[in-house]
Amino acid sequence: MKYEKLFEPVKMGNLNLRNRIVLSPMHTNFTVDNKYTERYIEYYKERAKGGAGLIITAHVMAEVEVDPYPATFGYPTLDSASEIKYFAELTEGVHEHGAKIAIELSPGTGRLADEIIPGKPPVGPSEISLLLMPDIKTRILTKDEIKKLVENYGRAAGLAKRAGFDAIYVHFLAYLGDQFLSSCWNKREDEYGGSIENRMRFLFECIESARAQVGNDFPIIVGLALDHGFPEGRQLEETIEMVKRLEKLDISAVHLRRGSYDGMNLLIPTAYMEDGISVDYAYEVKKAANIPVIVDGNLPDAEYCEKILKDGKTDFVGIGRPFIADPYWAKKFQEGKNNEILPCIRCMQCIDRVFFSRYSACSVNPEYGLEYQGKIRKAAKSKKVLVVGGGPAGMTAAKYLAEKGHEVTLVEKSSRLGGHLFEAAVPECKKGTQGYLEWLKHQVNKLNVNVKLNTEVNQEFVLDFKADAVVVSTGSVPQIPKVPGVEGTNVKAASNLLADFTDDVKDDVVVVGAGLVGCETALFLKDKGKKNVTLIEMLPEIAYDVIYMARFSLLGELAQRGVNLRPGLKLKEVTADGIVAEDQNGNTERIKAGTVVIATGLKSDGSLYDRIQGEVNEVYQIGDCIKPRNFIEAVHEAYEIAKMI
Ligand SMILES: Cc1cc2nc3c(=O)[nH]c(=O)nc-3n(C[C@H](O)[C@H](O)[C@H](O)COP(=O)(O)OP(=O)(O)OC[C@H]3O[C@@H](n4cnc5c(N)ncnc54)[C@H](O)[C@@H]3O)c2cc1C
Ligand SMILES: Cc1cc2nc3c(=O)[nH]c(=O)nc-3n(C[C@H](O)[C@H](O)[C@H](O)COP(=O)(O)O)c2cc1C
Ligand code: SF4
Repeated sequence: MKYEKLFEPVKMGNLNLRNRIVLSPMHTNFTVDNKYTERYIEYYKERAKGGAGLIITAHVMAEVEVDPYPATFGYPTLDSASEIKYFAELTEGVHEHGAKIAIELSPGTGRLADEIIPGKPPVGPSEISLLLMPDIKTRILTKDEIKKLVENYGRAAGLAKRAGFDAIYVHFLAYLGDQFLSSCWNKREDEYGGSIENRMRFLFECIESARAQVGNDFPIIVGLALDHGFPEGRQLEETIEMVKRLEKLDISAVHLRRGSYDGMNLLIPTAYMEDGISVDYAYEVKKAANIPVIVDGNLPDAEYCEKILKDGKTDFVGIGRPFIADPYWAKKFQEGKNNEILPCIRCMQCIDRVFFSRYSACSVNPEYGLEYQGKIRKAAKSKKVLVVGGGPAGMTAAKYLAEKGHEVTLVEKSSRLGGHLFEAAVPECKKGTQGYLEWLKHQVNKLNVNVKLNTEVNQEFVLDFKADAVVVSTGSVPQIPKVPGVEGTNVKAASNLLADFTDDVKDDVVVVGAGLVGCETALFLKDKGKKNVTLIEMLPEIAYDVIYMARFSLLGELAQRGVNLRPGLKLKEVTADGIVAEDQNGNTERIKAGTVVIATGLKSDGSLYDRIQGEVNEVYQIGDCIKPRNFIEAVHEAYEIAKMI
């Protein structure tokens, strides 16, 4: 077998696992009233079917009596026997498919409290500011309250065992547990604060309380931050000392990740960050303490996982978002079907939606969260379907329509498939996106979609084609500001520059427009060795349209790569040696540049759809030709339309 270490059956403490692949805890928001739903359970079952060895649930609250937060995240609570049935349905469903399941149990929330519940001030180890509302401080937990939290933790662990879980995952990262562990948040002067032992007391007591309910042989995994990712936060050296102190507690594994809610992009790393962001840190712990290690964070593929396992850097690999993008991530690698794996593009949509109180969804996998509806069904009657435009919307529609048994023709006016996805995948940091484009092309090819390149579809073409249904996915084109000089040979649209980079791009470049496209084009130009790259933006902020969870990482990367950021400047004119820009007070400024790149947005191209309305029985419009947006809308609209046809 190719990845023998990764796929060998193995023990984690007393737990027999079919391989070393752990589904990392990920809250999807698929709960209703803090209870698991069919949607949530089927999501997990699909990943169990897909070959994960151990599934770790997302955050579960052990109690809501002392610390009832968070109020809005929809985390399930396991505080009474009446809850067991919901959890048991989950454990039974996962077991049916050969995976084991651990419950990520949190003793409390502390400074991560969200919307304030009247009469219930948030609590913490000390008086500390809430992360989301710094003006509000936590009330210090009394010793009696700590005792209650510990008791309630044990109760939840006992209930979890009764519900069929195979292990308790003691969640001491970011939330209340971590706040006790870390001197940046724990200022107590009693036996719960001060020395490492004292700050670990709450952890020891939670573990003891759980053990008292589940027995000494029951597997316990502890989840800790390696470091918090900000100067005052806990550093690696102290985490090593902490893990050493866990050795005597017969812990089955420690799950180690960099980051915190204050350093979120370390915890859930973006496309702009490196592969295996936590691996070397976790290895330092592994060398120092004799407890098996699980590590996660941007682990790209089975090849990489096999290597870090063989190099002895970790004992288990945690796979999070790749399992969202492709539930069969493990099984496909095991069966050597690597080119069938739909890769995660690290775009952060899934987590961004959770943070903004929506169901999680995926940019590349429209079936995520809809597993409970089953696979797309074969059509009752095969239809002749014309899909116009080979961008992500058109290719996704073609894939699902072909799977339904329709006879699909995909027509693209340019010489290649991809639309803007082709350009989006060009910068070095977008290698996942490149993989996604390859995957879409492979799907279209494998399903025998009839692809016609270099063919522009017009009204006449549609009428001659005589399709039963037409899907218009003609996308968008660059929006170029109407200013003097913009048609000069020193000016390029960002998408053209990315798609067909040529050597005539000079060393001094001004990129006009600092949305996602402008920012990534600036990084790309830096990759190409361009010396002075200046990014101007008429709005007061750079990366204004980049989703929140990715934005700070992108800004960090721009700063680190020395891109000159100039918000509040509007392009007025392109000259032979650069640009003239105007600030918000009407002052003009000249910026020298040999090449000017325009990234001022896209405009939709819905003209074909307008022209063929009423001419064909079934005609649909999807993706950017409705309005320029992102992959997630293009892909989801394509999937919904394919279901309808
Ligand atoms: C440089 C760049 C980077 C981006 N990066 C990201 C990103 O990281 N994440 C993200 O979510 N979104 C990103 N986007 C946005 C994303 O690419 C679009 O939302 C997405 O491509 C829309 O897909 P679509 O299929 O609707 O349209 P398009 O991608 O525009 O594809 C439309 C296709 O239709 C073809 N076509 C048009 N008219 C006809 C016709 N009459 N006959 C035949 N073919 C026709 C076009 O040639 C094109 O290939 C980026 C956009 C750009 C420009
Ligand atoms: C949508 C989403 C939800 C998450 N929810 C949790 C959670 O409930 N508990 C937790 O400990 N980590 C959570 N994480 C962090 C993941 O467990 C994991 O550490 C992170 O995604 C990095 O791994 P990856 O690069 O393989 O995705 C979440 C991540 C994502 C993307
Ligand atoms: S939404 Fe983006 S980051 Fe999340 S799993 Fe899908 S591709 Fe990966």
